[in-house]
Amino acid sequence: MSKSKVTKIEIKLNDNDFIVSKTDSKGKITYCNEIFMKIAAYNESELLNSNHNIIRHPDMPKVAFKLAWDLISKGEEFFGFVKNRTKNGDFYWVFTNITADYINEKIVGYTSVRRKPNPSAITTIIPIYKKLIELEKHGGMTQSADFLFKFLEEKGLTYDELILSLQGE
Ligand SMILES: Cc1cc2nc3c(=O)[nH]c(=O)nc-3n(C[C@H](O)[C@H](O)[C@H](O)COP(=O)(O)O)c2cc1C
Repeated sequence: MSKSKVTKIEIKLNDNDFIVSKTDSKGKITYCNEIFMKIAAYNESELLNSNHNIIRHPDMPKVAFKLAWDLISKGEEFFGFVKNRTKNGDFYWVFTNITADYINEKIVGYTSVRRKPNPSAITTIIPIYKKLIELEKHGGMTQSADFLFKFLEEKGLTYDELILSLQGE
């Protein structure tokens, strides 16, 4: 199946599924656990050395990843809801946390741990991501970032506060 093809089939994580991966400093996968391979339907040799965007789903707005990279490259952790694409085009939602890995105070890579998202958080996030993607189609990431920050300002929340409250943490 081509990389852009997607199905409407959702794969749901179980309560105890922890999907772990590690990357180098550019986002190339250096480690993934069994459950990652099982859910994404790739084998280890297909994932190792591939860019992490191998599981990128077209329903994800670009601004979500920009925010993630802006934070993690500064050594700050990222929390977010991500819709990922399996090898055959199915999708799975995760609640993700990404942190930097250091050697001698220098960032050498990143680790991501993902778990089952709160279903009500996904119901809230779907229309927001749809809006962000629509804005990106017409006006690029400047427009989606503007919308996101205005939305947060109106709610009186930081990005982290929004995400963690949606997950119920
Ligand atoms: C540790 C780590 C984990 C990541 N996990 C995902 C992921 O699960 N899904 C995803 O689409 N991108 C993930 N990314 C971000 C990708 O590197 C990439 O920025 C994103 O898929 C957007 O791809 P694009 O820039 O080609 O549009 C991760 C990055 C890092 C450093």
